[in-house]
Amino acid sequence: MKVIRTISQMQALSLAARKTGKSIGFVPTMGALHSGHLHLVERALAENDIVVCSIFVNPIQFTNPGDLEKYPRTFGKDSVLLEAIGCDVVFYPDVAEMYPEPVTHTYDFGMLEKVMEGLYRAGHFNGVAIVVKKLFDIVLPHKAYFGEKDYQQLAVIQSLVKLESMDIEIIPCPIVREPDGLAMSSRNARLTPEQRKAAPFIFETLVKAAQLYKSRSVELVIDTVCESIAANPDMELEYFEISDTETLAPIRGEKPHRPVVACIAVYMGQVRLIDNMIFNL
Ligand code: PAF
Repeated sequence: MKVIRTISQMQALSLAARKTGKSIGFVPTMGALHSGHLHLVERALAENDIVVCSIFVNPIQFTNPGDLEKYPRTFGKDSVLLEAIGCDVVFYPDVAEMYPEPVTHTYDFGMLEKVMEGLYRAGHFNGVAIVVKKLFDIVLPHKAYFGEKDYQQLAVIQSLVKLESMDIEIIPCPIVREPDGLAMSSRNARLTPEQRKAAPFIFETLVKAAQLYKSRSVELVIDTVCESIAANPDMELEYFEISDTETLAPIRGEKPHRPVVACIAVYMGQVRLIDNMIFNL
């Protein structure tokens, strides 16, 4: 497995691969890899000739400096995991390589960036879009793989690819869960043993809400979720929203016949966890 630290070397490798007709699959990450990431890499390996995984903790997408500082950096462990599953290339640039100049570009993703994560983390998706656009220009992939756990991020990236007319197929991949239902996340490693034990309550709440949604109003489902998280002493709800799966516009009143997406963000101490689930009538 090659570890590449410069943009010019990464571009040269991708251009050479493309010249010989090889397909490139790409998995962008911020490291601290878990089975969820490895599933993305495995899927990319099954569908492409060459797989590149990037590891870059992108400072401009953090809206809280403490969160950036505490984000786990585990390159040694990550590269062992990637090598073991057969990843071909790790692109591991530093901040100066990615951002030699201050970033000024601002994207407009409309409603997609104004709700949920966008409301509570202003500027977050602009930072994600800037780094993903840069990474796409450097890695030159045919297909890029993203987890559905970050549902809103996936919607923003799909919109970015359209806005920038990029010829890249975005492949959404299902959420990978621990056996007790907790969605896999690099942040889970920051939970205390007690918090980790309590955390599957988020998934359990979504499962119950999905059932309730079949027979009760959107408003009642939202109130029930808010009340049950509020009653849990380990958790503080940031938002729970039931939204259109494409526009992410909040749903109220009459329930649509198509599926909707329910998204939740919860604080457990300092650790912010997100999850989501598709609800059907
Ligand atoms: O989902 C992530 O890990 C990050 O937001 C991404 C897409 C790698 C951009 O930094």
